[in-house]
Amino acid sequence: MFFRNKNISIENDKILKEIDMNKIPKHIAMIMDGNGRWAKKRNLPRSFGHKAGVETIREIVKTCSKLGVKYLTLYAFSTENWKRPADEVSTLMNLLVEYLKGELEELNKNNVIINYIGDISALPDICQKELLNSHSKTKYNTGLTLNLALNYGGRDEIIRAVKQICTDISKNNMDIEKIDEKLISNYLYTSNMPDPDLLIRTSGELRISNFLLYQIAYTELWFTDVYWPDFKPYHLYKAIIDYQKRDRRFGTVK
Ligand code: FPP
Repeated sequence: MFFRNKNISIENDKILKEIDMNKIPKHIAMIMDGNGRWAKKRNLPRSFGHKAGVETIREIVKTCSKLGVKYLTLYAFSTENWKRPADEVSTLMNLLVEYLKGELEELNKNNVIINYIGDISALPDICQKELLNSHSKTKYNTGLTLNLALNYGGRDEIIRAVKQICTDISKNNMDIEKIDEKLISNYLYTSNMPDPDLLIRTSGELRISNFLLYQIAYTELWFTDVYWPDFKPYHLYKAIIDYQKRDRRFGTVK
């Protein structure tokens, strides 16, 4: 074990040197997929996959924080995830509460701000309470903002924004002519945050699954076959190195 870990650390040290620390993506979004398949491969219940997935979250948050990433948005529970069996939904909610309670001190130590996007009013009271508590106890930190996407759906977010814009227009609080890309951004959960530079999806699925639909217009996408519980800082480094080699033109020529 000792030697295995030592090898991993040597690999990490080697690959870390390839990262240009002046070009770290400001905002990374992640679709954490493959917990269920990770567990199935080991003949374990799906809940074990989610538990292992939380360990990955711990490690990846710390790594992003050390690298100087400013925003990390994790797709933790989608508007569609309510269709899962009730016991799985409740496992996920319990893990969220455990994570927030158990990690608060460490997150504070790492200067992390805990934030959420999505309609949390539909979550169990205890989840809402812990989210608000974690946010209020970390909001003056100045490092990484960890956005947990909970009861989040990209289409739902856009519908809410449209409704709010219409309401503001009907109350004469806003002029139709003022509607532009920036204004719509300001009505989204991610207002005041830059759009993601890099979106990572694990588990080999090649789709967006209703995540940050408006915000990812020019985001660089990176996919890996690795299941979320097996996703390590090493994979994140690889994704960042790939990202740094890409030519981001935002529709213009260079
Ligand atoms: C996808 O795997 C994962 C999820 C839907 C939930 C992600 C949640 C966690 C990692 C833990 C709880 C969250 C926090 C913030 C503590 P899947 O179940 O869809 O995997 P599968 O496609 O292989 O079945």
